[in-house]
Amino acid sequence: MKTLPLTDDTRLLVLTGAGVSAESGVPTFRDAGGLWEGHDVREVATPAGFVRDPLLVWRFYGERRRGLDGIVPNAAHHALASIERRLGDRFLLVTQNIDGLHRAAGSERVIDLHGDLMRSRCSSCDRPPFEDRQAYRPGVAPMCGRCKAAGQDALLRPDIVWFGEIIDRRFLDRIEAFTLDAGRRLVFLAIGTSGLVHPAAALVDAARTVGGTSWLVNAEAPANVDRFDHVVLGAAGKLLPELLGVGEPPAV
Ligand code: OAD
Repeated sequence: MKTLPLTDDTRLLVLTGAGVSAESGVPTFRDAGGLWEGHDVREVATPAGFVRDPLLVWRFYGERRRGLDGIVPNAAHHALASIERRLGDRFLLVTQNIDGLHRAAGSERVIDLHGDLMRSRCSSCDRPPFEDRQAYRPGVAPMCGRCKAAGQDALLRPDIVWFGEIIDRRFLDRIEAFTLDAGRRLVFLAIGTSGLVHPAAALVDAARTVGGTSWLVNAEAPANVDRFDHVVLGAAGKLLPELLGVGEPPAV
């Protein structure tokens, strides 16, 4: 099997999607039997859907929270944490996943592009997002509480970037700075993502623009497959330890 060309100079930018967590037992979105199959994205993952039916949205994300019970990182998460320990600041991991599994595996230089399932924030006030492990209670929409003190309470919402919402500019700036600084030394590696959701899907083009090399590890060829220099099809947990040259994950 090929291995990634990692030299003392390499800057490694990794993008992960739902496929990297599939072998941990977290369902992907668009595969057969995926999360979006039984749900209308507009109802549960847009600001308008939340305004229309906050209880439905909370039920959906409450189920997602419960679904993470007992879920642990797999060999792909461990391989990425391991290569980060070797590369240090020459490594940056951008994830579209909200499951927290990269951090659980020990990754530190992580950008949670789409937020964090285990955090909530107020839909109205500027109270910072906070860790929230509350299970959804049927029929009960969680409220801010801090807003109540100011006169009119407001709904809490999951700290997730929904469709139609803007990604934190600081995240995009950090990715851009890493990419520009890397230039031709950049190796871009996308793992387990269908290449349909922007801005993540366009990172491969940014890598090409600065003269970097791009790699894709995915179960099947995604929408933007033609834009990659190297494509390795298969399961991330099986492929990544060897591809990154980090061997087997630690025994759990
Ligand atoms: P998708 O469900 O769209 O794509 C997952 C990809 O992973 C597919 O191309 C699969 O072939 C691949 N895959 C499945 N199992 C794999 C495995 N074991 N190893 C490698 N690849 C595997 O998920 P994302 O691309 O992450 O956004 O979706 C992007 C965004 O769209 C999500 O963050 C979410 C979604 O709607 C929001 O909720 C805002």
